[in-house]
Order: sequence, then C-alpha cells, then structure tokens
Amino acid sequence: MSRRMKVGVIGCGNISGAYFKAIRTFGNIQITACADLNMDAAKAKASEFDVKPLSVDQMLSDNSIDIILNLTTPQAHAEINLRALDAGKHVHCEKPFATELKAGKKVLETAKGKKLYTGCAPDTFLGGGNQTCRKLIDDNWVGRPVAGTAFMLCPGHESWHPNPGFYYLEGGGPLFDMGPYYITALVNMLGPVKRVCASAGRAHDSRIATAEATRGTVLPVEVSTHLAGILDFHCGAIVTVVMSFDVQKHTHSNIEIYGTSGSLVVPDPNSFSGPVMVSTNRRDWTESSLSHIYTDNMRGIGVSDMADAIMRRRPNRCSGELAYHVLEVMHAFGKSSQSNRHVLIESTCTRPEALPVGLSEGKIA
Ligand SMILES: NC(=O)c1ccc[n+]([C@@H]2O[C@H](COP(=O)([O-])OP(=O)(O)OC[C@H]3O[C@@H](n4cnc5c(N)ncnc54)[C@H](O)[C@@H]3O)[C@@H](O)[C@H]2O)c1
Repeated sequence: MSRRMKVGVIGCGNISGAYFKAIRTFGNIQITACADLNMDAAKAKASEFDVKPLSVDQMLSDNSIDIILNLTTPQAHAEINLRALDAGKHVHCEKPFATELKAGKKVLETAKGKKLYTGCAPDTFLGGGNQTCRKLIDDNWVGRPVAGTAFMLCPGHESWHPNPGFYYLEGGGPLFDMGPYYITALVNMLGPVKRVCASAGRAHDSRIATAEATRGTVLPVEVSTHLAGILDFHCGAIVTVVMSFDVQKHTHSNIEIYGTSGSLVVPDPNSFSGPVMVSTNRRDWTESSLSHIYTDNMRGIGVSDMADAIMRRRPNRCSGELAYHVLEVMHAFGKSSQSNRHVLIESTCTRPEALPVGLSEGKIA
C-alpha cells in the first residue's frame, strides 16, 4: 500500500478552511501542520483542524513534511514556492503561479533541477462538471472546436472579502485572480494557446472596501480591472475572453465552446459541479449527466493528484508547466494592449490526462 504523504499548509487565511476540509476526503494525503506570517492565524487553524502550528522556518525544516501547500497571497507565491523547493519539498500553490513570468520560470527550473514536483491551482477543472465537458469534447459530441467564449464579469471582491487590498495590486485584478480558472479550463479542453490579442483598462483608480472587517478602507487600484482578449489555440479554436471587476450585472454564460457539429455550455470553472448543457446538430439544449465524480468543493484534489503522481512517477495534472503557460497567456493580455499587436505565446504544455471515469470517492486513480 502506498504511503500517505504529509502536507504542510503555509498561509492560513480565507481560503485555507476549504482545503483543510476537502483534503480529509483523500486517502493519500494528510495535512499535519500549518504556518502563517501571522502566528495567531496559524494557531487558530491548527486548533480548528487538529494539526501542529509552526513558523514558516520550522515547517520548511520539518523532515516529516513531503508537500508544501502554499495558500499565501499572490505576491508571496513564487518566494514561498522557491523556499519550499530549496528545502527539498514538493510544492503546490494557490493561483496565480507567480506574479512575474521570470519568477514563475525560476520556480519551474528549480523544481526540475531538484527533481521535485510543482503544482498550482486551480484544480477545479478536475471536478465532475469540467471533466464531463472534457469527455464530451474528446468523444466528439460537438465536432472539432472552432470557437468559444469565456466571461467572468463582476463588480469586484471588496463587498465580501475581509482583506481585499491584494485583489487590486500587482498579481491581482480580474485576470490574475479569476483568469486562471477560465484559461486553465480552456487549455484542459482545447490544449495550449498560440497567440493573444487584447485591450485592458480600468473604471476606477481606487475603491472602497464595504465588507464589515475593512469597511471604508480605500484600496488603491494598480492593475487593469477590465480586460477583453482573443485567444488563438494551437488546435485552431478562437476564443473570446473577457475578465472584469467593472461590471455590475450581465447575462453571459461562463464558458461556451462551439464545435463544427454542436455547442457546449461549460459550468463555472470556479466550481466543481455542473450543469453541462450540450446541443448537437442545432437541436435544443439538453443537460448532460455528469460522467465524473467530485462535484463538491474539492479544493486540494490537485494535491492528492500530485501525491499520486509522485508515487507513480507520472506528471501531475495541475502541473507547474500548465500554470506557467496560463501565466504567460495572462501576461500577454497587458502586453498586447500596450503594444497594439498580437502576442505570440512561447511556452506550451500538454493537456493534463483526463481523470478516469468510475473513480470511488477519495481516490484519484
Ligand atoms: N478567498 C477565496 O475565496 C479564494 C478562492 C480561491 C483562491 N484564492 C487564492 O488563495 C490565495 C490566498 O487567498 P486568501 O483569500 O486566503 O487570502 P488571505 O489574505 O485571507 O490569506 C492569506 C494568508 O497568507 C499569509 N501570508 C501572506 N504572505 C505570507 C508569507 N510570506 N509567509 C507566510 N504567510 C503568508 C497571510 O498572513 C494570510 O493569513 C490567493 O492566491 C487567492 O487568489 C482565494
């Protein structure tokens, strides 16, 4: 029987609870410790989930820990990833993989040099909804994909997040915050992106937090908050992608894929579930039953997949290569807007293996 790998969490903020809960589902990983710059946050999560509270230094020098789960804010992702790798640990981090391409590349190269695994959120594309869409495309239900749309339009996160400042700083914004879900879902279905053209702008230079914890705080806006782009995929599909924190309300669906013989409505890539709607040969939409399990909030399934990949010496599905490719695509939006031209994407990646049909709960293979 394979060993249960030990996971140490760094970053005990808003999203960490979802990971602590979901990771209990998986038989091949176990969170044993947590750390945060803010020791009180680490202690609170440690006592809630019955793990050891440690400082970041203690965690990195703890020989019992195999995988670091980096749930810090985007500006700290690359630094913590590099420290984890230097300490000889595999690392899976929240999105984005890094804020800067150079830092992302350094993480990839360091991992390769040390023969360690890197991974990155989102792992939502391993959920039942998105895996069903992948299967419908692979099984030719809509024919050859030729086009698509992806819309993430909202008024921003300052009305609900207790500490929303980072969403408007370098590494934040609608594209770097939500784009990873959408672009990763698209790459999972369609393969890598060849080139990008885009326009980027923002409606406000500052915002006011309205959630109770920070109500009234002025939030400087350093990043574009409305970005509209067109992605040309190597497979030939042309997909319109709009990511915005400047839209109050809209009626678009999250993602639609148009093939030569049918169309597919893909569920919210920031969720694990459906519904999946399909139309073939211009017939009415029908809701497809889901071919795959994992439809609840399973954040952490990517860590379970990494542990399985390490054991079986195979590539992990939420790989650093995939995350770096998505990061380069996101950077291309700003570059294209500034330079008034298409930007060619240098990196590539293979589509992650689809999950098998018929998995039992808690298993990844
Ligand atoms: N909040 C959500 O709903 C949500 C959902 C999905 C993904 N995410 C992603 O998860 C990440 C964390 O988001 P969050 O909402 O939990 O943020 P948060 O601000 O609530 O928590 C981040 C925690 O990381 C700690 N931290 C920051 N830098 C650190 C460092 N160098 N060393 C140790 N600890 C450090 C902070 O002290 C804080 O406790 C972000 O990348 C975000 O994009 C958040």
